[in-house]
Order: sequence, then C-alpha cells, then structure tokens
Amino acid sequence: MIPGAPFFHRRAGELWIENLPLEAVAAQYGTPCYVYSRAALEAAYAVFESALRGHTHLVCYAVKANSNLAILNLFARLGSGFDIVSGGELARVIAAGGRADRIVFSGVGKSETEIRAALVAGIMCFNIESEPELERINLIAGTLGVKAPVSIRVNPDVDARTHAHISTGKKENKFGIPLDRVIPSYQRAAALPHIAIAGIDCHIGSQVTDPAPLYDSMDRILALTDELRALGIPLKHISNGGSIGIRYKDETPMDIGAYLKGLIAKIGNRELELLLEPGRSLVGNAGVLLSRIEYLKQADAKRFAVIDAAMNDLARPAMYDAWHEIVAVRQRDEQRLAYEIVGPVCESTDKFGQDRQLAVHQGDLLAILSAGAYGMAMASNYNSRPRPAEVLVDGASSHLIRSRETLSDLFAHEKTITSRA
Ligand code: LLP
Repeated sequence: MIPGAPFFHRRAGELWIENLPLEAVAAQYGTPCYVYSRAALEAAYAVFESALRGHTHLVCYAVKANSNLAILNLFARLGSGFDIVSGGELARVIAAGGRADRIVFSGVGKSETEIRAALVAGIMCFNIESEPELERINLIAGTLGVKAPVSIRVNPDVDARTHAHISTGKKENKFGIPLDRVIPSYQRAAALPHIAIAGIDCHIGSQVTDPAPLYDSMDRILALTDELRALGIPLKHISNGGSIGIRYKDETPMDIGAYLKGLIAKIGNRELELLLEPGRSLVGNAGVLLSRIEYLKQADAKRFAVIDAAMNDLARPAMYDAWHEIVAVRQRDEQRLAYEIVGPVCESTDKFGQDRQLAVHQGDLLAILSAGAYGMAMASNYNSRPRPAEVLVDGASSHLIRSRETLSDLFAHEKTITSRA
C-alpha cells in the first residue's frame, strides 16, 4: 500500500490503481496523464458524511481543487454542494449536474457578470469578502427583483501554520472582512432591501494538519453568531471552510471524523447548519500524475531523470516547493540511485524532486503521488505544451474524462493579423 493513498497498491512489484495496472492506463491513454480512483473519491466523501450524520450539514466541495466535470458529477450524485470562486466554476457545476441551491460563492473579486449569473442560477449564498461587494450584490439583486442570500466571510486573524502562500486567515491577507468590522457589516446587510442574511463563513488557509487553528477560527465565528443573535440577526448556517491537510510525505494529518465531531460539539444546541468547503482532502490522494522517463542524464554533479511531465502539468513543486512522493510504477530488483526528477520546461524550477532514490531505466513510468488536488486545475500551456489527459478508474475499468489537448488546441483562439499595406 502507498502511504496516504490506499487505492494505489502493488501487485507483483507493479503499481496498480484499484483493479488496473498503471502500466495499462499509460499504454491506453499515453503520458503524461492524471489518473484518479473513483473509490478513493467516494471513500473520502464518505468520511465527511458519516461524521456529520445526525447534524444538519452540507459538504460544499471546493471546485478549484479539481474541476473536471466527471469529478463534479460524481460528488453531485453523492449529494454534495459546491464552493465556487468564479463564473467559470458556476458554469462547470451546473454543466456537471450540481444543484445551484447547494452552491456557495467565495472570492474577493466577484464581477457584476458573475454575481448576476449566480443570482439567476439561484445559488445558496454568496460568501461576502468586503463591504463594497455587499453593496454591489444588493444593487444587482435589486435590478433582478430578488433577494441575495449572503454570508460574511470573516477574516479571524488566525495563523493556520501552513505555507505562507496558502494562508488566508491572517489580517494581512486579502480575504474576508476583519473581525472588528463583521458586526457592522451584518447590520448594514440587515438594512439593505435586496439582501437576505443566511450564514457566516471562514477559511483560514490550506493544507492545515493541526486542528487547533481550525477550532480557534470556529470559536471566533461561533461567538459572532451569538452576538448577532442577541442583536436580532439570527443565522442559518456556519461554515468553517476547507483547509484539512493530507499526507504528501510524512505528515500526520488530523483525524477528519474527530475534527468534524469536534465542530458539531462546539455548535452544541445552537440551530446552525454546518457547512464545510473541503477541496484537497476529498481529491488530493485520489489521483496521481503518471509520467514516462524520457532520458536518464548524467551531469557532473548529479543524475537527472528527465520525464515527460513538467511544471506546466503540476505546478505545486515549482510554486510552493511542495513535496510529492515519486515512485517507479515497475519495481526493479536493482540498486537504487539518487535522481533529480525534472521536466522538459526551460526553467530551473521545473523540478519535481531531488535526491529521490530510484531503480529505473529510460522509458520507465513514474507516478507522482497525491496529485489529485491543485494538479490539473492549475495546469497551463507554458512552453506550448498541450495539457495532459485525465482518466478516472473505477474497479477494472477506466474512463477518459478529459482528452489530451492537441497541438491545434494550443492556438485555437489565436489569429495572425494582416500585413500593413
Ligand atoms: N474554501 C475557500 C474559500 C478556499 O479559498 C479554499 C482554497 C478552499 C475552501 C479549499 O481548501 P482545501 O480544503 O483544499 O484546503 N493551490 C494551493 C492551494 C490553494 C487553496 C486555495 N483555497 C496548493 O496547491 O496547495
């Protein structure tokens, strides 16, 4: 079994996903290729549902982690709601069969077009991130003759103790409304004619492995709900965001069930529906990036394995110095050597790992693990590289859920101009 990724395992030295060898997936779909396990996605979702059973709740999957339609559709069929941050994500959720009334809309820069589209679709609520946004939503709802359901995203000034690039709940971050301005914002919302107050929201950052800061943020927003109730502004729901970290290397992730039960205990006998916005914890360890070794290259100081995936396919190592476990798909009974694993892109940060001990030959397959979240979703076409295919494995069958981009896709939206007379 692969640590953190129980639906990937070895049979006779070969890496399998569910009941399929990854070698067969690569032979059928080519590389680089994202490969996801349906069972892993469903198992991750089930952890939330079973812990939350008995308390009114809604799991709103954070679409940004992996927005493939097949994955959204799978969660929609399990009853999931969705946390979106753009009109594009709204369109995806609707196209995937997600229910609009289970969508919460976060993000600091909602445009007029996006707000209108969300109101027309009839979403569950806007997570308001600034006072001017509240005013804008009120105006647009007025022109449509509807009331916009809102929740205020609180910036609780809690340190999530995660990578600085993915921390969002400190007062210097751009997210949410600062604690001392939350109550006045609700009072303003209550006075606006086209606003319906629905809940309160908070998300302090991502890849959080210690529940303490998450409990801390929950305490702060719960105290606000009490204060608001006393002021005659009762709320229907409370959301503590996403944030739950996964195992990439040797992290000890929190026990998700225990954390969720802890949140329910904190709510106590208040009549509040509990919302969560998990992204990474639902999809991260359900996927790998499958890649083939193009060359083994000996430089003066070290050995490189140059693979056919690059930072444009999986940006996390280059962007955050993130660790992803990298394993050989076929285990060889040979001495392991230290490799720096790099891609073909012309940047020195195009590197997936260094000092990785592997026994591999040119042409072998590597699996970059824990790539289901913020992998394909952040992929780009840098260096004019078509983005990879995505495959969903279900038992012994596989489904192509996004085809590999073609070369003509790369410039499909571009035009040359006519020469000057
Ligand atoms: N809710 C809100 C408002 C968010 O901004 C996010 C993630 C989530 C929920 C989901 O958080 P999760 O459960 O995945 O921690 N690209 C970075 C992560 C950026 C997270 C952005 N916000 C990475 O690859 O680590």
